[in-house]
Amino acid sequence: MKILAVDTSCDDSCVAIINTQDWVILSESVFSHTEPMKKFGGIVPEIASREHLKALPLAVETSLKKAGLSLSDMDWFAVTHRPGLIGALLVGLSYVKALAFATGKPFSVFNHIEGHLFSPLLITLEKQEGPAFPWTALVVSGGHTELFQVNGILDYQWLGGTLDDAAGEAFDKVGKLVGLPYPAGPLIDRLVREKATEEDRKIPFPRPKVEGNQFSFSGLKTAVALKVQKANLENEKEKIAILASAQEAIVDTLCEKTRLAAAQVPGSRIVVTGGVACNSHLREKLSEAHFPAPRHCTDNAAMVALLAGLYEKTGKLTPAPWTTTAHSTGDF
Ligand code: KG4
Ligand code: ZN
Repeated sequence: MKILAVDTSCDDSCVAIINTQDWVILSESVFSHTEPMKKFGGIVPEIASREHLKALPLAVETSLKKAGLSLSDMDWFAVTHRPGLIGALLVGLSYVKALAFATGKPFSVFNHIEGHLFSPLLITLEKQEGPAFPWTALVVSGGHTELFQVNGILDYQWLGGTLDDAAGEAFDKVGKLVGLPYPAGPLIDRLVREKATEEDRKIPFPRPKVEGNQFSFSGLKTAVALKVQKANLENEKEKIAILASAQEAIVDTLCEKTRLAAAQVPGSRIVVTGGVACNSHLREKLSEAHFPAPRHCTDNAAMVALLAGLYEKTGKLTPAPWTTTAHSTGDF
């Protein structure tokens, strides 16, 4: 079965086509809209919606061209319907509905976090050697920091998440406080890797003491804001020390909580996905974990196409003829 999937949950217009017969990703396209957001220092939802409107038809066309296929070759359309920016999601959903209507093919809607959750299977299904279950999975992105226990394909339980900011949001806000453009996460990663000494990582920013599988990053943001007030940001060394120590606090927290959760289930493998899973320091410190390739950690539609395929293969969802009510998956 050939599935064309779309994800417009945030500020990337993502399209992918997968063939579930051999799990080969036939093509992937990501049209990123971070550039128009830079002058605002963050995502402006209305601008994101308008950018999707312009880019999505091009992304679909590009994906079909790369795969050497046409719309009529598709058997099923999949689209992310939540969570995310509501206007942005609406553009993707409306577009996919129109594709389904025009071609007479079925479409279904999928949960973005569930997509991230099973993305570790993307590179491995075709090789039939994915990280073995059970997993303790950390989904860590600009909008989410969630822990799951995963016992098998589509068989999982939510363990807990952030009470306030997500880890990616904390990276972006710390960066904004020292004057870095949006999205600051990848820039902080690079600056710290290239310029920070061991000593630079030692400003004692708080590690939140919230219970169990919960996270909290708003206190770190306040602590960094207070530090910045007294700092001289013209002095590059001071700036790097703030960034390195804030990254240390975020990474320490993610590692500790994830390891504690994994220890509850003997033999559980740690997997980490979502944009922050690209962070090189997190990858180093949580070296026992499985991380998907960076392009499958950040937002992408291959994970949505795969998710649709998994629902179909496990018989949990049958592509139905076009109706006005779509199926809904991933209830958390
Ligand atoms: O999964 P994603 O692409 O979109 C959401 O669903 O949010 O994640 C984007 C987030 C941003 O906050 C970005 O700063 C962060 O992931 N991010 C990173 C890195 N690459 C992306 N944070 C730290 N280090 C990185 N290398
Ligand atoms: Zn995401």
